Amino acid sequence: MNLEENLNKIWQEAEKEFDLAESLQQLEELRIKYLGRKSYLANFPSIFKKLDIEEKRKIGSFYNELKKKIEKLYLDKKEILSEEKIKFDLEHPGKQIKVSHQHLISQTLEEIKNIFIQLGFSIVDYNQIVDEKENFDYLNVPQNHPARDMWDTLWVKDFKGYLFRTHTSVFQVPTLKKFGVPVRAVIFGKVFRYEATDRTHDFEFYQLDGISVSENANLGNLKWVVEKFFEKFFTQKVKIRFRPSYFPFVEPGLEIDISCVLCNQKGCPLCKNTGFIEVAGAGMIHNFVLKSAGIDHRKYQGYAFGFGVDRLIMIKHNIDDIRILHSSDLRFIEQF
Ligand code: PHE
Repeated sequence: MNLEENLNKIWQEAEKEFDLAESLQQLEELRIKYLGRKSYLANFPSIFKKLDIEEKRKIGSFYNELKKKIEKLYLDKKEILSEEKIKFDLEHPGKQIKVSHQHLISQTLEEIKNIFIQLGFSIVDYNQIVDEKENFDYLNVPQNHPARDMWDTLWVKDFKGYLFRTHTSVFQVPTLKKFGVPVRAVIFGKVFRYEATDRTHDFEFYQLDGISVSENANLGNLKWVVEKFFEKFFTQKVKIRFRPSYFPFVEPGLEIDISCVLCNQKGCPLCKNTGFIEVAGAGMIHNFVLKSAGIDHRKYQGYAFGFGVDRLIMIKHNIDDIRILHSSDLRFIEQF
């Protein structure tokens, strides 16, 4: 048998055997057999030395190539078997998965939702993009009414008259139309304002609005509901204070203050030493709004209220910049 035939035979056997190897151990045995110190290939140079020049030329490069091919067989198979080993090794340490959690805003919305359910309110939802009639006209803020300036508006480009809702009060008329009366409902969600941002203002934030309409819903009921809500939310007793205010869709309109939950009315920067913090707008729903919803305002009456959810979160968790709530800063998010 000449040398070339020998080498060819080795190649054919190696190809078969490496293909059949099923474990890293078998593979190691094959490596020793074909490439190890005592293998034919390893000892080939000593045979090679004895050849004459003509034969050397013929067989030299053939040998080199063959050796490389067998090394590659070995390495390829090693890769395949190592991967399989990881896949099936039950003891292999698992990858650590970072467990995520709900954002503080979502957690709080969930909490608020549960409190209002306990207080007998239904939770409803409404569109974030609405037309100006819904956002303003139905709520007694006709075009050119100066009160439109209270809500700096983000208009939708190329869709005339459409805007990003500036307050969740948009839900009032559609909800009254859809569910009829008597009704008690709360909405919460994002609202948008065309505004420069600072520590207490962002161009998008969360609001909550509630309405209760029946034959005798009144400001006394409102006071009880907000008091219970804030007591549950801040898990402490609070005092409620109503102050006259103006919103076109309520009459009378008022601003709701609660006793400062940080200093218990001893005076602190949050309440600016007044002992009270402003938390909501509210009032009795204006006849105009009831009429917009097709409700008989001589028979039915109701109250409405609205707060900024972000502000409540900031008070509860002592956060001094609203913008961090809407940032994706993990150092902040991971704290809650
Ligand atoms: N929608 C009002 C605002 O954005 C708040 C409000 C709601 C006032 C309901 C009165 C009644 O400021």
